[in-house]
Amino acid sequence: MTPSSANTATTADTASAPAAGNGSGSPYGTLPPASMPASRKPISLPRLREMHTQGEKITMLTAYDATFAAVADAAGVECILVGDSLGMVCQGLSSTVGVTLETMRHHTDCVSRGLRRAQGTAWLISDLPFGSYQESKELALRSAVVLMQAGAHMVKLEGGGWTLDTVRFLVERGIPVCAHLGLTPQTVHALGGYRVQGKTEVAAASLRREAHALQDAGAAMLVLEMVPAALSAALTLELARCPTIGIGAGLDTAGQVLVLHDMLGMNLGKMPKFVRNFMEGAHSVRGAMEAYVRAVKDGSFPVNASHAW
Ligand code: KIV
Repeated sequence: MTPSSANTATTADTASAPAAGNGSGSPYGTLPPASMPASRKPISLPRLREMHTQGEKITMLTAYDATFAAVADAAGVECILVGDSLGMVCQGLSSTVGVTLETMRHHTDCVSRGLRRAQGTAWLISDLPFGSYQESKELALRSAVVLMQAGAHMVKLEGGGWTLDTVRFLVERGIPVCAHLGLTPQTVHALGGYRVQGKTEVAAASLRREAHALQDAGAAMLVLEMVPAALSAALTLELARCPTIGIGAGLDTAGQVLVLHDMLGMNLGKMPKFVRNFMEGAHSVRGAMEAYVRAVKDGSFPVNASHAW
């Protein structure tokens, strides 16, 4: 398939193919790897694990449409997350609970197309929304297939022990899974608000057990949201096969993620303390994203002192 014919292909035609050049070749008519600039290899799971092993920080941003995804990719962001935070920043919902699988499919499709058209190299993760995986592992598989066929390389789901069977089931069937512990926004009503998690010894020990169990179940990445820095730092050292990606979880995780609108200074509510507005001092959105990548890589973001815990 040539780049121009890729633009007219259907979602089903293109989505099941990994990003151009992933792995050792490009079977079944994907974009030719030769069209990729030599210096930018597609990000793959082995590469993300290698970065973790070598101590190179992994950068992740959310994106919900083709253009922002392509700009983030060009700015050097390694992982793009189509987060269900889109319910709040794009749809005006008061939480992520109202986001549907069809909405996630649509935005994943848009982001994937943007990356393909820009010959992007980012690793694309898509959130399984509330209600699309809780009922059974079979339902989770059906939902994950929808997102993978829309172009995701990995799906993310929230929760600890009760998700283990589901994680194993998806991974055994070839679907890479990113787990998510700490503040899990889909259960905000049960948690009683957007609060720091794992603060007591008992809560920290339970989170730690769950993180190890998720790695053992095959989770290839773990988002840690709003957990104390000491806990996420310890987990990052312990989980050799599962890079941790922090948000409000301190400096010493394997990587960082921010919600796009927050880091562009577009949070219309109360900005969480751990977020930095990267538009300050930048001349463009791409400049802000480049500043974010630099700051994560050189360890100047985040700053533990600016966290709430
Ligand atoms: O939905 C989202 O954007 C997320 C990030 C905050 C990690 O899950």
